Amino acid sequence: MTELRTERLLLRPWRAADREPFAALNADAEVMRHFPAPLTREQSDALADRIESAFAQEGWGLWALELRDGGEFIGFTGLSRPAFDAHFTPAIEVGWRLARGVWGRGYATEAARAAAAFGLDTLAAGELVSFTATANAPSRAVMERLGMTHDPADDFDHPNVPAGHALRRHVLYRLRG
Ligand SMILES: CC(C)(COP(=O)(O)OP(=O)(O)OC[C@H]1O[C@@H](n2cnc3c(N)ncnc32)[C@H](O)[C@@H]1OP(=O)(O)O)[C@@H](O)C(=O)NCCC(=O)NCCS
Repeated sequence: MTELRTERLLLRPWRAADREPFAALNADAEVMRHFPAPLTREQSDALADRIESAFAQEGWGLWALELRDGGEFIGFTGLSRPAFDAHFTPAIEVGWRLARGVWGRGYATEAARAAAAFGLDTLAAGELVSFTATANAPSRAVMERLGMTHDPADDFDHPNVPAGHALRRHVLYRLRG
């Protein structure tokens, strides 16, 4: 299975020991502020299961993110196929979720650059997308640092967020190869 390496980070397949720190970050209300709710341990493990089965199928995915200096697990960054229908699907999405204690160090952008290069160069995807709730400024800033572009005509209502919910409206960013 593919691993990617950057100056400070290792993007690697998941290990059993990642489950506990992953559950801790998914239970953090601040990390999950732009999602409908934090995750329980069971929901976090179910998400890790889905990520691992996508890896088994594709050989790439939402890589576990590890600091090269010290080996700490700090979240995930990588590629996935959105599992819902929208005007831009089928597509390959680049996404990230990091523990709060490591925000503000440029790790998400550094990892996402490596993941995006893998998608565009190795997988030869003609385009990658990224999307988030409209108010998620930190995530939109990562998309902009990656050089992704936003056309308001692409904005959409996420089909898995209930109508009327403040997080339903999403922005879509695109990166062409
Ligand atoms: C989205 C998320 C990953 C962004 O994290 P982030 O730390 O703001 O983003 P980066 O890792 O790219 O770091 C950029 C910041 O680090 C700073 N920085 C510090 N040292 C740096 C370095 N050596 N290199 C680059 N940037 C550095 C930058 O100046 C920037 O700071 P600023 O936000 O004050 O401008 C994080 O907020 C998160 O995990 N949120 C919860 C999950 C989520 O919403 N995911 C997206 C859903 S679609």
